[in-house]
Amino acid sequence: MRSLFQRKQIADLIHDTEASGGLKRALGTGDLVMLSIGAVIGAGIFSTLGTAAAGETLPSGEVIRYGAGPALVLSFLLLGAVCALAALCYAELASMIPQAGSAYAYSYATLGELVAWIIGWDLILEYAVGNVAVAIAWAGYFNSLISPWVHIPDWLTHGYYNVHASSDPAIRALLDTAPRVLGIPVLVNLPAFLIVMAITWLLVIGVKESTRVNNIMVVVKLLVLAIFIGVGAMHVNPANYTPFAPNGFPGIHQAAAIVFFAYIGFDAISTAAEETVNPQRTMPRGILIGLAVCTLIYVIVGAVATGLIPYQQLKSSDPLAHAFEVAGLTQFSWIISLGAVVSMAAVLLVFQYGQPRIFYAMARDGLLPPWAAKLHPKYRTPHVTTLATGVMVAVGSLVADDAATYDLTNIGTLSAFMLVCLGVPVLRILDPNRPRPFKVPFVWPVSLAGAGACLFVMQGLPSHAWVRFGVWLAIGLALYFAYGYRHSVLRNGGPPVNLDNPNPPGTRA
Ligand code: ALA
Repeated sequence: MRSLFQRKQIADLIHDTEASGGLKRALGTGDLVMLSIGAVIGAGIFSTLGTAAAGETLPSGEVIRYGAGPALVLSFLLLGAVCALAALCYAELASMIPQAGSAYAYSYATLGELVAWIIGWDLILEYAVGNVAVAIAWAGYFNSLISPWVHIPDWLTHGYYNVHASSDPAIRALLDTAPRVLGIPVLVNLPAFLIVMAITWLLVIGVKESTRVNNIMVVVKLLVLAIFIGVGAMHVNPANYTPFAPNGFPGIHQAAAIVFFAYIGFDAISTAAEETVNPQRTMPRGILIGLAVCTLIYVIVGAVATGLIPYQQLKSSDPLAHAFEVAGLTQFSWIISLGAVVSMAAVLLVFQYGQPRIFYAMARDGLLPPWAAKLHPKYRTPHVTTLATGVMVAVGSLVADDAATYDLTNIGTLSAFMLVCLGVPVLRILDPNRPRPFKVPFVWPVSLAGAGACLFVMQGLPSHAWVRFGVWLAIGLALYFAYGYRHSVLRNGGPPVNLDNPNPPGTRA
């Protein structure tokens, strides 16, 4: 029982990184802030904003969640505060343990192996499952962008489960009209699949190349949002701000629980710690500056969107472009769609970058098979896990339902954030003398408030998300006891997996 909570020494974490050759260090503060904005601003603001403002109701009249209305700006401020608490905790751990693997690596050093595995398993929800939702949202905007010139048949732009979950009769009709193979309707989201595969290729060929592409995408994204704010602000109708909070605090709370998706990603850059120049100084700065910039942008975009048209009309798969159309600014809505496509591609890039590095760290510890920890001999990238993640996400986005993936992503991410917040004070007790280049101020109130705040936001999610999350955790535990428990390098007292020779004598393959 005790061995389940065996903790990895931080010195070992750093040693493993060095012993295994490590990843190439190429990223500075500017790159990290750009990576952070690249990860954060995407499907959350371009897609989930509409549901957060207007709420969600089944055709039967049953309310899935209440909307915030114009008080959406309060949901954004609430989330900004919650994420700032979690970001401070991330920053302390990231500066102290500059190793690939993010919350997974931190919890291994603080809360022990079992909790580390659970966090690693939760992070798959954040990165891989989250990217399935982003890829589907990307494809939706992409299809409308090219629709004046090219029409892709509907059965190639709607995944099976998406069609199945839809309450739109025109979409559901595809179940009957789509071509069939062996009696099964062929319903796939081909553009979503192709964008994920293209990004995967970019990541296999190396980090520097990919951050350069990311930087260009971030600049385009900021320009487009500046246009939305600048043009939109001139057409705001103050009457739309009344009533300000139509569903009171429950609306603000439940809207926060879904639009939290818009904040996911500020933590993703901590997975790049091992590839960062001087991570002790650079990491905390990158995380906190990135979060502050994104919160400011969201509050302003939320205020403009809910002022432009009545909040009920924001319920749409492309709420920002739709708001311009309804407000009669059609010439700008195309630019917004273009910006959405670029923004979401940037999000896909950062998450496809983060997930393989978490798998890589877990494989290095023996919790996943050793082949997953191999580095590419020339590019020094974890190419095996990059390709595996690419295929998983691409196949998921081919068939999945985006709405279900938003909720599952949020609950998994919030639970990982909560455990990270708890890890900080635990480590202050267990390892008080280790140098902390960045220290959380007022550590007890800040970290405990951070953990409590994450739990509070989770409570705003619908019950089906909790059920699915429970099933996910049960599968994760079964896998841990079937594989990781027996192969853990720490438990077996062996050396870290040698990445160039994954099965050296003395380690168990
Ligand atoms: N925050 C990211 C997005 O909104 C995941 O797309």
